[in-house]
Amino acid sequence: MGTDVFTGRSLAVIDDLTISERRYLFEKTRILKEALLQDNQDKLSGFRIDDPDFGIYEVFLEDSTRTRESFRNAAKFHRSKVSDLATDSSSFNKGESYADTFNTLAGYHNSVFIIRSKLEGVCRWLEEEAALYAQRNGLTRRPSFINAGDGKHEHPTQELLDEFTFLEDNGWDTSSIHLALVGDLYHGRTVHSKADGMRIFDSVKIDLIAPVELAMPESYRLRMEENGYEVRIFDSIDAYLQQKDIADKWYFTRPQLERMGEQILKRQDELRAKVTFRREFTDSLPKGTKFYHPLPRHRVHPTIPTFLDDTPLNGWERQSINGMYVRIILLALVAGKIGDDFTGEAKRRDRVDEEYIVQVESSKIHASEKGEAYSEGVRPILNGLVIDHICKGDDPATIRRHMALISKVMGLDDGKGGEWISTSKKDSGMYKGIIFRPGSHQLDRKDLKRLAAVAAGCTLNIIHDGQVVEKYRTHLPPRIYNFDDLACNNKACISHPSHNEGVPARFVRTRDNRYSCSYCGTVHTFKEIWK
Ligand code: CP
Repeated sequence: MGTDVFTGRSLAVIDDLTISERRYLFEKTRILKEALLQDNQDKLSGFRIDDPDFGIYEVFLEDSTRTRESFRNAAKFHRSKVSDLATDSSSFNKGESYADTFNTLAGYHNSVFIIRSKLEGVCRWLEEEAALYAQRNGLTRRPSFINAGDGKHEHPTQELLDEFTFLEDNGWDTSSIHLALVGDLYHGRTVHSKADGMRIFDSVKIDLIAPVELAMPESYRLRMEENGYEVRIFDSIDAYLQQKDIADKWYFTRPQLERMGEQILKRQDELRAKVTFRREFTDSLPKGTKFYHPLPRHRVHPTIPTFLDDTPLNGWERQSINGMYVRIILLALVAGKIGDDFTGEAKRRDRVDEEYIVQVESSKIHASEKGEAYSEGVRPILNGLVIDHICKGDDPATIRRHMALISKVMGLDDGKGGEWISTSKKDSGMYKGIIFRPGSHQLDRKDLKRLAAVAAGCTLNIIHDGQVVEKYRTHLPPRIYNFDDLACNNKACISHPSHNEGVPARFVRTRDNRYSCSYCGTVHTFKEIWK
């Protein structure tokens, strides 16, 4: 298949690598780990980039030990050029944008950027921006962006080393996993990456163990269910151990209570106790159980107490060591050093093209409809447009609010006309909204796209001389983008207007007909994506 499959690729979320690609990466990591432990230099040289001009840049805008240092050591293994941006004294502090900063560094012959930031979706944005910069400036390599943890979103390279360690402990069997996620499931980006990450196993059972204050966000839990996982929820380790079906892999995370305000801090001991392992729990664990942790553990309040370090439960130390091996292989792949023999399913940029604005043929507009007298108040409309079936089935207050939004988004706030709430002819309890606008309104293809994006499921009637002469039905578009008044409502997203990074909001329809932000993955209804 050739090294091109991996060369120059970015890793913004774990799903940027297909299941086959990840399994290939793990197979290579297994061989590398063995060669390193045996000091087999012949084998190791097959993995080495061995190019002092190959630039790997670390940009950590949040603290790190494991991710930063394992990547730095991995880069040194490769005998490549390793740099570390001094973020405290960089031009970030003069208000420079992410795009300008990273384009500048790419111009100095750097090919891989490893970024940790509070801003979610930053690698996805830079991947696109830097590709254009590379093209404009004739750079020979398209830069790769590797997400080393972005806010509460994802930590895909941690996910890779977690998956590698689970597989190692499963004897490389991918048929099933039973995993308990314990601790701060709300803030923990490493557990969020499990929602797609665990798809490398054919059958997945996940037990979420956290008090409601630290519970897994609904969007990730739903994703797990959509991915076919069996998901169970428990408030505490005590509650979990009251039943008999107990996981043999436990993944702990550090409660980040300091992020949660006064009321939670007052209850911190009680909340921590719910997710901290105690000596008396040990007898309830199935034989062969392993504990894992992305680390760091809190030195005062570790959820895995230190008395467990020297027991067979300890999987977290080997997990941490595996981090460097996995990252060596990831760098070798994106540098194009290995990957030639990959034959599995490669990542495709799926672009769903479907018609979502359907014009009803004139012959199919029913005679009674053609003559249907839509009114502009007390008088029928002779010429104008009528948007019908708005928010059919919602309550009247919601419909009114949404009609105001449609009117604003479609630029229909000026001039004559009105909004009306009606009920379905067949069901008097089924409300719908209707917007009337008499006069001349020219709608081009972009306006129709806009209408579908803000008023999916409605009907647009163009009325001339009292007759419906054109009729369109709108459906949810597969993608919504290219409109200035779109916005992701996640304040931590790189595309949120408050960050002034100039990132145009863009959304992709989800399987449950909502819209996921292309950068941070936050899921919205189509009504929630407008500024
Ligand atoms: N697991 C992890 O990301 O650790 P660091 O914060 O030390 O990089």
